[in-house]
Amino acid sequence: MDVIAELEQAVSGAAASIDGAGTVEELGKVESALLGKNSAIGTVRRAMGGLDASERPRVGTRLKEVTAEIEALIDQRRTALARLEDRHRLSGDRIDVTLEAVRFPRGSLHLIQQTIDEVVDIFVGLGYLMTSGPEADLGWYNFDALNTPPTHPSRLESDTMYLDYGDPADEVLLRTQTSPSQVRWMQQHQPPVYVVVPGKVYRTDTIDASHLPVFHQIEGLAVDDSITFSDLKGTLSHFAREFFGPKTTVRLRPHFFPFTEPSAELDVSCFACDGGESACRVCGGAGYLEMLGCGLVDPNVFEAVGYDPSQVSGFAFGMGVERLAMVRHGINDIRHFVDNDVRFLRQFS
Ligand code: DAH
Repeated sequence: MDVIAELEQAVSGAAASIDGAGTVEELGKVESALLGKNSAIGTVRRAMGGLDASERPRVGTRLKEVTAEIEALIDQRRTALARLEDRHRLSGDRIDVTLEAVRFPRGSLHLIQQTIDEVVDIFVGLGYLMTSGPEADLGWYNFDALNTPPTHPSRLESDTMYLDYGDPADEVLLRTQTSPSQVRWMQQHQPPVYVVVPGKVYRTDTIDASHLPVFHQIEGLAVDDSITFSDLKGTLSHFAREFFGPKTTVRLRPHFFPFTEPSAELDVSCFACDGGESACRVCGGAGYLEMLGCGLVDPNVFEAVGYDPSQVSGFAFGMGVERLAMVRHGINDIRHFVDNDVRFLRQFS
């Protein structure tokens, strides 16, 4: 057999089968078919030892050349195939990191909570602590300790929601005001006292544009050894300027509350018209807006909690959170706060 002819035949078909390999793996098979032990080249390599010494160099040289030629073709093809496979894999795996992530819509605090936070912050800035009290309480805390006699009309079921719970003599009720938290705090702490207490209160009111049976108040209490009415006015003036704007002035009108003496209502100057435009849609021409109740703590309240009225004095105040927010934002119907219409709520997010 002519070994050289065999080699030439092997090499002649090599290029085509190398090109025909579609993957790196297929190319591996083609490679062993062309260069492996059982290939034509392998057979020639093995036969070298039996060749005539005169023939050996010629066959050997050609064998090397042919092997190198085929190896080069395989290398080239392997590089091309590997690149192709890489590109395929990359395009299959591709994640576009520039795409926006899915964002879940985020809510915001309700305007009532925002208002509470803002008011509490103002008083915390003056050194007050914030606390809370129970929404279900006893008649003693909600009324008696607050100098409100058993005959007071606000104790009627037409005003107060009583709970069918425990001993009827305890008059378990839903607090009608945050004022009972004054009593609880003073029972547990000695003066000086500077606290604010936000929370829900309950009354048997029929729902309309200005009433809800559940609403929010913020109570304030300051007790020290020489608190005067001036301290009350100064503190609430500061609050009004912080909450309604630096030009705000306040006015105190005599009023009555069982737990303060003297008692007053605080009006703030109208921030919308700068005082008394008859067409003002916020104050209706009054120039002032009724804002909260306040006064100097009645000695009977101090006695109820075990403080000595000859040693301490104090002031207290209570404001409606819904009212604060309505005045400040021009909201004309208290029911917006509980309708949960997001078009309303979003305006304050
Ligand atoms: N508790 C009163 C109310 O609900 C508000 C109030 C007035 C609270 C005077 C006070 C105060 O602490 O001193 O109408």
